Amino acid sequence: MAFATRRFVRSASSAAAKKLIVKHVTVIGGGLMGAGIAQVAAATGHTVVLVDQTDEILKNSRKGIEDSLKRMTKKMFTDKPEAAAQFIEKTLKNLTVSTDPVAVVHSTDLVIEAIVENLQVKNDLFKRLDKFAPENTIFASNTSSLQITDIANSTTRQDRFGGLHFFNPVPMMKLVEVIKTPMTNQKTFESLMEFTKALGKNPISCKDTPGFVVNRLLVPYLMEAVRLYERGDASKEDIDVAMKLGAGYPMGPFELLDYVGLDTSKYIIDGWHSLEPNNPLFAPSPLLNKLVEERKMGKKTGEGFYKYK
Ligand SMILES: NC(=O)c1ccc[n+]([C@@H]2O[C@H](COP(=O)([O-])OP(=O)(O)OC[C@H]3O[C@@H](n4cnc5c(N)ncnc54)[C@H](O)[C@@H]3O)[C@@H](O)[C@H]2O)c1
Repeated sequence: MAFATRRFVRSASSAAAKKLIVKHVTVIGGGLMGAGIAQVAAATGHTVVLVDQTDEILKNSRKGIEDSLKRMTKKMFTDKPEAAAQFIEKTLKNLTVSTDPVAVVHSTDLVIEAIVENLQVKNDLFKRLDKFAPENTIFASNTSSLQITDIANSTTRQDRFGGLHFFNPVPMMKLVEVIKTPMTNQKTFESLMEFTKALGKNPISCKDTPGFVVNRLLVPYLMEAVRLYERGDASKEDIDVAMKLGAGYPMGPFELLDYVGLDTSKYIIDGWHSLEPNNPLFAPSPLLNKLVEERKMGKKTGEGFYKYK
């Protein structure tokens, strides 16, 4: 027992000492974010296994990736259809799919999780993978609103665990927030920074705090816009016009809320409110709650603050 413990400590610290160049990536969750992350990683020469719960979901993810690559390459290779076709073929060659994460993690450098935003489900997944992934494999979560530390604590590799927060749509958005918890070791952090650069993204680093940088600033702003409207101070149309023409934002707050999804926004603010109930920036909004209750979630359901079609 003592020998096993000593051996673990020695090999864990040697794994910690060496910076990992990420080549093989497992992306878990083939939805909006996971499919985008898998696409970008495959397009930049990484071998990628995309994992989800059913073959049907993975078929849709792959179709979405193919369609996105076609749109992208039209712009990248104008008047060069052969080069575009070659790029798509090469990218898709780097991408395989699986419904069994345990069977694929044995040869992966980095696991990026982009599954449902539920701590228990994420913890169950990582706890399982921790037993099967090689010791030097880095784990990362794409969570928007949960604490990375709470997810990392389900594993025995808190030092090789960080956050990689991508933005939607992943192929278009340049930013990745790289999250270092108090337990993340420097080499893991550097490996994650280098990996995001290899994807052609622009990483910034942030501590493991609610919302990291972008959502910590953006969500309270969106909630303040809802409160302004709830008080009757201005119409939602005027607030949107004001922020586009006065602040130079590409979308107004209500357009953005509908695009992100009102359920997602409510989920985030409710989570932060439970962490800091006295913080007025994190106060829930009765109007937002009512719209979600009526299943008006935004663009995806055809109605949110605005009606679509
Ligand atoms: N949507 C965004 O704008 C956005 C932005 C940044 C980060 N995120 C975060 O990314 C994560 C995923 O969000 P999304 O919008 O892609 O969600 P999504 O609902 O589009 O996709 C989630 C996918 O995970 C799969 N899944 C669920 N449980 C699973 C499991 N145990 N094993 C394997 N697959 C499983 C689902 O079948 C689904 O295909 C969340 O943590 C979210 O907070 C979302």
